[in-house]
Amino acid sequence: MEKKSWYKEMAVYQIWPRSFCDGNGDGIGDLWGVYSKLDYIASLNVDGIWFSPLYPSPNSDYGYDISDYRSIHPDYGDLDIFKKVLDGAHERGLRVFMDLVVNHTSDEHPWFVESKKGKDNPYHDYYYWRKGKGKNSPPNNWDSLFEGRAWEYDKDLDEWYLHVFSKKQPDLNMANPKVREEVKEIMRFWLDMGVDGFREDVITYIAKAEGLPSAKVKLPAATGMQYYTNLPKVHDYLAEFKRDVLDFYDCFTVGEGPRMEPSVALSYVKEGPDKVLDMMINFAHMEADCFITDFLQRPFKLTKLKKAFTKWQKEMYGKGWNALYLENHDHPRVISRYGSEKYRVESGKMLAASYLFQQGTPFVYQGQEIGMINTPLSSLDEYKDIMTKNNARIARSLGLSKKTVLKLAQKASRDNARTCMQWSDGKNGGFSETQPWFVVNPNYPEINVESQLDDPKSILNFYRDALQFRRDNPIVIYGDYTEYLPKSEQLYVYERSYKGKKLLVICSFTEKPVRFDAPDGVTLSEQAQVFGNYDANFVISNGFTTRPYEMRVYYFDA
Ligand code: NOJ
Repeated sequence: MEKKSWYKEMAVYQIWPRSFCDGNGDGIGDLWGVYSKLDYIASLNVDGIWFSPLYPSPNSDYGYDISDYRSIHPDYGDLDIFKKVLDGAHERGLRVFMDLVVNHTSDEHPWFVESKKGKDNPYHDYYYWRKGKGKNSPPNNWDSLFEGRAWEYDKDLDEWYLHVFSKKQPDLNMANPKVREEVKEIMRFWLDMGVDGFREDVITYIAKAEGLPSAKVKLPAATGMQYYTNLPKVHDYLAEFKRDVLDFYDCFTVGEGPRMEPSVALSYVKEGPDKVLDMMINFAHMEADCFITDFLQRPFKLTKLKKAFTKWQKEMYGKGWNALYLENHDHPRVISRYGSEKYRVESGKMLAASYLFQQGTPFVYQGQEIGMINTPLSSLDEYKDIMTKNNARIARSLGLSKKTVLKLAQKASRDNARTCMQWSDGKNGGFSETQPWFVVNPNYPEINVESQLDDPKSILNFYRDALQFRRDNPIVIYGDYTEYLPKSEQLYVYERSYKGKKLLVICSFTEKPVRFDAPDGVTLSEQAQVFGNYDANFVISNGFTTRPYEMRVYYFDA
């Protein structure tokens, strides 16, 4: 039986601030815009907001390169409006979570600026500065995940610094106790202000292997990852943050853990004395149409998706808590990937049901709730995301033509999730009065919040209803999980059961008709159906033939 906690019962809405809503008319999303949308967010039946970074940043990686941890980017407002948003959120029963990005800072952060001044500077050891192996030869052969090698040379110091992401994102040396004290102070700063917890960016990278050894095999990309992913020290550092800070607050933490297995996630989130995080964001289910990165594409395979879903549902059950999501600022829109733009409304609701009724805390990303889809741009130069640029560079260096690389970017770029939120069919989709900083998908006259608010059949109202159902029915939160038809490439069918009740979720991932027969012991009845994405839901011989991307949910006594 699961231990009950508020963070298990909540659902979270993620805001990527630059593209959410422009409140001061400069074409950039901001906190005044967020403030004006708090009622809307609460109306989604979520219980919290996770803000992607709001801090001052040169925006080399749109906020994931922080130059001041205790302030708000002037594009987004200031601490006063942040506090107003925080209070306004709390008044509506919404908790607020900040993004904590402490694997690296911006190279414009004063710590880094100081660290460059000399080897004796007290901040020098805040980062990984090392001698090269010779002229033009970095200390080891690690690759940056965002651009070429993971080291940048500084002529004045005759030393190199480590950057696992872009060269504008130098890695912090978490082995230095002073750096850990800084992290704790940052945590206290926000928690004392009333923030309710953190999403911890690439938290499994914060420890580096002793001696920073070169990898034996040089790969085309990401060489050396094993020397900074999930090292035992990560656990020690997180335990220290918990003991010294988090334990003093009623707060919540979710870590981000690329290339994560449930067994490893459990080492951080398993209930008990060793628990250092409440949950872990994993990527396994985001690889059903690609390999490791969204750029290495392959055809969507439902069994891959289901295997990942079921593995996490089963292996975490009763031990640790799942973070559930299908979209965030790092992935293209899910309807364009796993669903169908042609059957946008049907597949948008089906995809929602495929994860919202699983066990875990669901995250919903801005625009997902109205079924926003990818926005293909017409040239590579229009892409703003640094990761897209890096992947395009690698793809070009492997001999792919510009045209092919553009096609890849159109499908795989993170920018697909970063276009402006579509609020109405008005100018710029209601995002801003002025020319927005980035594109608005030209489909906004059709796909926008306003047109869906009062439409009982909209994707938006499906999210609201599904999240309300989750609130009202503990089976969704605490029930156990069984999968049916694991080998089917068309249907994803799972069941939750709890205290004599069952919830059966049937999702078709194809436009083709597929016959579904209820499992033994289950009787499908029209009265038991609580959700669907079509009218007239007949049951014939205890089953039915699916319509394109059909979804049905039945709730009944076991
Ligand atoms: C993960 C974040 O989600 C992503 O947007 C960012 O680029 C990297 N971490 C680096 O901070």
